[in-house]
Amino acid sequence: MNAISRLATVISLASLFPLSALAADSKGSVEVVHWWTSGGEKAAVDVLKAQVEKDGFTWKDGAVAGGGGSTAMTVLKSRAVAGNPPGVAQIKGPDIQEWGSTGLLSTDTLKDVAKAENWDGLLSPKVANTVKYEGDYVAVPVNIHRVNWLWINPAVFKKAGIDKAPTTLEEFYAAGDKLKAAGFIALAHGGQPWQDSTVFEDVVLSVMGPEGYKKALVDLDQKTLSGPEMAKAFTELKKITGYMDPNRAGRDWNIAAADVIGGKAGMQMMGDWAKSEWTAAKKVAGKDYQCVPFPGTDKAFTYNIDSLAVFKLKADRKGDIAAQQDLAKVALGKDFQKVFSINKGSIPVRTDMLNDMSAEGFDSCAQASAKDFLADEKTGGLQPSMAHNMATSLAVQGAIFDVVTNFMNDKDADPAKASAQLASAVKAAQ
Ligand code: GAL
Repeated sequence: MNAISRLATVISLASLFPLSALAADSKGSVEVVHWWTSGGEKAAVDVLKAQVEKDGFTWKDGAVAGGGGSTAMTVLKSRAVAGNPPGVAQIKGPDIQEWGSTGLLSTDTLKDVAKAENWDGLLSPKVANTVKYEGDYVAVPVNIHRVNWLWINPAVFKKAGIDKAPTTLEEFYAAGDKLKAAGFIALAHGGQPWQDSTVFEDVVLSVMGPEGYKKALVDLDQKTLSGPEMAKAFTELKKITGYMDPNRAGRDWNIAAADVIGGKAGMQMMGDWAKSEWTAAKKVAGKDYQCVPFPGTDKAFTYNIDSLAVFKLKADRKGDIAAQQDLAKVALGKDFQKVFSINKGSIPVRTDMLNDMSAEGFDSCAQASAKDFLADEKTGGLQPSMAHNMATSLAVQGAIFDVVTNFMNDKDADPAKASAQLASAVKAAQ
């Protein structure tokens, strides 16, 4: 078809379906800002989009690429400043409180849905409190990710002569040496600040245990931040960096995951959204790949709860408010919770489902995750992920990111100096 006849077709189709008629078909629309753009993440978010559309609403996709979401957060802030926020945005952890205090999030929109669907009964208080502002729900939590995972390609391990997953840092280094000697990338990684700090927090957890992790990265205790255990964590971090591909700068996390999936690399330290890439590549947990807690962290669970916050809209935008409410209702529904988490690599946020994962059709990684989540909640092993916006303000997180990334990129950096720098950078950002 040439250009003129293509245009003619468009014009005649347009006269058959005038815009007003198309718009009238939609009950309202909702724009969703998020950063789920990898193959596996997109498959997951498409489940939500499809359900919202099935319910008669229009989904406007506000995807902003960039793992970990810092670019999405920058875009969101500038849109809010310009007076043009979306209806819904992916916002997490303490940042929800900061957005709540600006008055831009709606404390009314979710009231009826939360009551009718019994959110208070479905969610653990820890989760519910994260998404409430001054007692009202301002966001809907969609899933729980565990961050402290190590992903392994067992076929690569076999080729390198490694017969089991490492459970201690020593075993991890021994496996890394064998992988290197056999010509593989030992540890796939993308050199971006949030990925560097994902590795860093795993190492802090391994070296200092959940209590030390909490003191340092949640309570931001100055003595712990600058102390000898933190210096030891930096020493181990330096060793681990030596097992990464030297060409890692700027690489996206899903490209690093693809190196492990494709057999170029043996391992990746990443939260369980990495599983979404394995799932999208049709690989099976326990057979094609292994998920184990990062060595030394099996009694701990660093959590990362994805949630979608709801912005205040003018009262006359009734259809769009209904769209926000529909999305929130769908997001906590059992069907969605299951399909979304299976695609995303996470576990559901509903306690009834967490308590009965075998009946829900989840794989071995997800079942282990749910079991550990419930067990670690009782022991203090359950800790919020610093690298994924769950533990501190974004200002403090940014200060930690800078120290960690500079340390990892400077092969002469001194671990004791780095811990002193960490303490002062955190203090300055508080
Ligand atoms: C995390 C987010 C996950 C995943 C990951 C990579 O912060 O919670 O859902 O998308 O970033 O982008």
